[in-house]
Amino acid sequence: MVATPSVASEWLRRWDAQQQLHIPDREDRFTAMTAAVAAYAGDRPKVLDLGSGPGSLSARVLQRLPEAEIVALDTDPVLLAIGRRALDSARVHFVDVDLRGAWTEQLPIDPPFDAAVSTTALHWLRLDQLLPFYRQLASVLRPGGVFLDGDRFDFDHDQRTIGAGAAAAQPEWPPLPEGAEDWPAWWAAVEAQPEFREEAELRHARHHEHPHDHEHHTYEFHRATLLAAGFSEVGTIWQHLVNRVLIAIR
Ligand SMILES: C[S@@+](CC[C@H](N)C(=O)[O-])C[C@H]1O[C@@H](n2cnc3c(N)ncnc32)[C@H](O)[C@@H]1O
Repeated sequence: MVATPSVASEWLRRWDAQQQLHIPDREDRFTAMTAAVAAYAGDRPKVLDLGSGPGSLSARVLQRLPEAEIVALDTDPVLLAIGRRALDSARVHFVDVDLRGAWTEQLPIDPPFDAAVSTTALHWLRLDQLLPFYRQLASVLRPGGVFLDGDRFDFDHDQRTIGAGAAAAQPEWPPLPEGAEDWPAWWAAVEAQPEFREEAELRHARHHEHPHDHEHHTYEFHRATLLAAGFSEVGTIWQHLVNRVLIAIR
């Protein structure tokens, strides 16, 4: 049984609502990122979406830049199935690939790419996996191409006072509205659907769960690693406390 586009679109809508619950300023971050893709990569960019999930950011890039061509990479079979059916666009290519491996060898369209984007995904990688990952990324972006990463970036080890203040200033997350789904509830609901049974089984066989004990991903660590991997400039283009959009130029 395969999900229809309208069923998949409803799961994508529920995914966005669930993610928004955990990251209340997610849409502001998306808006900053899509504007930056347009500013740095032009009207018809070839774009990578790294750890795309069901394609939330790919969809917004395509809304802003209808002539973009996007390769959306993820290793979660359920999220890929939702994205493929919900987006249903010849301009978005979903690829089942693990970003911890030789992912640049599995791209469905030839490099170079003009831009790469990622949201709430790269903190899933271990710190020692970032350098090989960024080296591969540098090898498929054109010189002058842009990388934008919207994620949680911790303050550095010598910024403890700033970090503590930022944690205290973090606005209270809104109370859960009646019937709202959080991450575990969304997963329990989607995995109970017959349309996604095969993908859910494969997902479990891969044991690829969110790393609860993930290491501290500081902006400084990512910046140093990107420079070591061959990027020429690294900065921040948008920030709200620890929620930040890092920008790097190849
Ligand atoms: C919280 S979701 C974010 C998805 C999407 N970018 C968004 O903002 O809605 C994190 C995504 O990263 C993906 N991911 C984590 N580790 C990965 C890896 N090693 N290779 C490919 N994708 C990975 C997960 O499967 C998941 O789809």
